[in-house]
Amino acid sequence: SDLSSFAERLVRWQRGHGRHDLPWQCRDPYRVWLSEIMLQQTQVTTVVPYYHRFIERFPTVTALAAAQVDQVLALWAGLGYYSRARNLHAAAQAVVERFGGQMPTAAAELESLPGIGRSTAAAIASFCFGERTAILDGNVKRVLTRWAGIEGFPGERAIEQRLWQLAESLLPLSAEEMPAYTQGMMDLGATICRRSRPDCQRCPLQRDCRAYAEGRTADLPTRKPK
Ligand code: ADE
Ligand code: SF4
Repeated sequence: SDLSSFAERLVRWQRGHGRHDLPWQCRDPYRVWLSEIMLQQTQVTTVVPYYHRFIERFPTVTALAAAQVDQVLALWAGLGYYSRARNLHAAAQAVVERFGGQMPTAAAELESLPGIGRSTAAAIASFCFGERTAILDGNVKRVLTRWAGIEGFPGERAIEQRLWQLAESLLPLSAEEMPAYTQGMMDLGATICRRSRPDCQRCPLQRDCRAYAEGRTADLPTRKPK
């Protein structure tokens, strides 16, 4: 294995080869939150125009909180999964009522808002405030099950718990590296460690990847049992 850590290699790779031009790559937790919710079930290229229209109409969390829910749903039309928009609006009102209209900065507080789960809270807190907290979405589960050679369906509670533990154990030591690290996990899963035919020759984790070493990249993550 390499002299530099998993996190150091991922951060270096993200800075040189990751995505840097997405419109929500900023330190505004409201914008990052909105993008993360839109990206949960929708592709980047579809999200971009919706994101711009939404930010133009509701530039701040207080503007969103003051809107009628129907105005929010109208801007969401076509994206689907409308409970995301209802939760977003309810959470904006909770930010006004419980946090004086200022987005909370800690993942634990963010997670108390409607529609913000553990991974979304971690994405916001790590991107905007450098909090050392791990994300674990579908792409990250794929990277970690392959890299560590973890067998078993990742939707199962015990496997998911192992993946959260592993994800927390691999974080960089420095807060300054957290935005690039979190983006690197997302970018690696989206562009290199793809579901089918991962591009292991370009992967910064190849030298100590268990699935690569054992020729098991096609078998991991383990599929849902029938
Ligand atoms: N998918 C979820 N979050 C993302 C982000 N910040 N950039 C690109 N794709 C994402
Ligand atoms: Fe994924 Fe291949 Fe990288 Fe392993 S070496 S993490 S399987 S892209």
